[in-house]
Amino acid sequence: MQICRTIADMHQWRAGCACNVGFVPTMGALHAGHQSLLECMRAECTRAVASIFVNPKQFGPSEDLEHYPRPLESDLAFCEAAGVDCVFVPGATEIYPADLSTIVGVQGLDSIWEGAARPDHFAGVALVVLKLFNVIQPQRAYFGEKDFQQLLVIQRMVADLNLPVKVVRCPTVRESDGLALSSRNAYLTPGERQLAPLLYSAIRRVQEAFAAGKTKNLVAVGRAVLEARPEFAVDYFAVVGSDRLQPLQHGTADSRIIAAVRLGSTRLIDNAPLAPPATAQTQTPPSAVGVPS
Ligand code: PAF
Repeated sequence: MQICRTIADMHQWRAGCACNVGFVPTMGALHAGHQSLLECMRAECTRAVASIFVNPKQFGPSEDLEHYPRPLESDLAFCEAAGVDCVFVPGATEIYPADLSTIVGVQGLDSIWEGAARPDHFAGVALVVLKLFNVIQPQRAYFGEKDFQQLLVIQRMVADLNLPVKVVRCPTVRESDGLALSSRNAYLTPGERQLAPLLYSAIRRVQEAFAAGKTKNLVAVGRAVLEARPEFAVDYFAVVGSDRLQPLQHGTADSRIIAAVRLGSTRLIDNAPLAPPATAQTQTPPSAVGVPS
């Protein structure tokens, strides 16, 4: 496995590849969610590239940039075991020279929900992903549905700027109790970890209510699950359109449930379709933790 630390090295490696290069961008601290992205890439692409870069521009001033986990050696071993051909591991000044002046905005999508809670977050994500696409020039790039709004921001940017890359959506990977995998789950105390699956239980309750014929006031169903536990502070819980994320009064089969909560000092996000495919319904656990009946 090749490790490239500079853009020049990355260009040199890329020049030796024919087409069908796949790419998984990451911030490291790799887990089974990343594993599934890497597996999809490996199955579909001739050459597989991953990047590991903790992107300072997507962290707010009071967020966890300094403390974000950076287990580089084990991340590299993880990539190698997953069959990655090349890992791009740039330093911050390689990506962001002092005279960088360009910003990337995806208007509308970048300022709602996560964008409202985390100003400049999506501008930072869009900028780094655009730069990584330009450096690596993949034909296919893999993003998890776990960060659903991020996925839509990237898809919009790719379409608007006619970037020659196909964005491939990969399903959220969950623990057996329903908690969506995230590098930030490591911040949860043991007690919080036990409670955390309640977020997905609330989402499941809304799916169940919709499947039973309810289309109005679905948000109240999910909120009631979370608000029964004082440990959770709900940032948002909404039923939205699955392309523009606009709030909906009436859910429809192609709507999406999106949610963000604070549990202790950790912010958890999750999302799911309002009407999941039949197989997803049977594979996911029923309402898992302390759900009031
Ligand atoms: O999802 C992430 O890990 C990051 O937002 C990404 C896409 C690697 C950009 O820094």
